[in-house]
Amino acid sequence: MTKTPIRDGFEAGAVDDAAALLRKGEVVAFPTETVYGLGANALDPVAVARIFELKERPRFDPLIVHIADRAWVERLASPIPDKARLLMDRFWPGPLTIILKKREIVPDIVTAGLPTVGMRMPKHPIALRLVDCLGAPIAAPSANPFGYMSPTTAGDVASLFDSRLPLILDGGPCSYGIESTIVSLVDGQVRLHRHGSIAVEELAGLLGTLPERGPDKGRCESPGELPYHYAPHTPLRIVASLGEILTEKSCFLAFAKPASRVGSRHVRVLSEKGDLREAASRFFSCLIDLDRLGMEVIYAEKVPERGLGRAIMDRLKKAATKTCG
Ligand code: TXA
Ligand code: MG
Repeated sequence: MTKTPIRDGFEAGAVDDAAALLRKGEVVAFPTETVYGLGANALDPVAVARIFELKERPRFDPLIVHIADRAWVERLASPIPDKARLLMDRFWPGPLTIILKKREIVPDIVTAGLPTVGMRMPKHPIALRLVDCLGAPIAAPSANPFGYMSPTTAGDVASLFDSRLPLILDGGPCSYGIESTIVSLVDGQVRLHRHGSIAVEELAGLLGTLPERGPDKGRCESPGELPYHYAPHTPLRIVASLGEILTEKSCFLAFAKPASRVGSRHVRVLSEKGDLREAASRFFSCLIDLDRLGMEVIYAEKVPERGLGRAIMDRLKKAATKTCG
């Protein structure tokens, strides 16, 4: 089988070719500032169905719609609360997804039948040019098979989908490295559906209060909140420090530079100086790397649960839940 072509997204004509594929109803992978996405024309339900097939994703899991122009917000959603505009003014383009009541134009397959739609304007120049060139919003989940970790390089996308994509646009490693933060504003309340690349402290700085945790009444409206998700194949255990038992067949995801020598040859350090933003940007690529080693266990060091550390810990806990029961 021929391999999926990876093209430098900054090269002349690459984005136009990707947009032409999208116009034909194909799915292409493209970079965003958070993680790589698997995109289809959001207004083409058949093309969107192809995303679900490729990802083996349950149909109850809605997709995020990517836009490049604020005019699309009014076309896709209504009403637009003032607080939503405030968030858009402050954080767009950028890694914040805002869920609002959807309008008729948004196909049900995109929202998995929900009456709401999640939208974001990405900050990556290739993502913005692709949406712009298509002239329609792009529905895109992270470019990983359902339940696996999100890829942050074109090479990792290629290894996950082999030859099943017609094109992967390469925009280099994603600068944020973890997915967008998701909030909803559908009942006058700002609710947090997923910790992500915008720290909740930043949202609180603008809104005056921390968003409430959604969804309501324990109902799972956002599978990003499922207890399993983001999991490597290798069992993962969270440890407080490097001092804990390490066997020959283990590997280690360290938050900062280890104070003493670690008893495993396979160590990835998220940030030598213990910087949370740098750690987030390297998180998935390091974990995917360790997963490939095929060891018996990945020990992951706890990170401080503040700022982006919450988003990292959220993903580590989910990975540990799935792989270790
Ligand atoms: O950073 C990101 O958000 C990346 C890039 C590609 O933009 N995308 C991404 O998409 O992470 P995905 O599909 O892997 O995660 C989106 C999450 C899912 O957990 C989905 O359930 C939730 O967003 N979601 C989307 N629309 C929703 C809605 N209307 N109501 C509740 N949750 C929604
Ligand atoms: Mg995902």
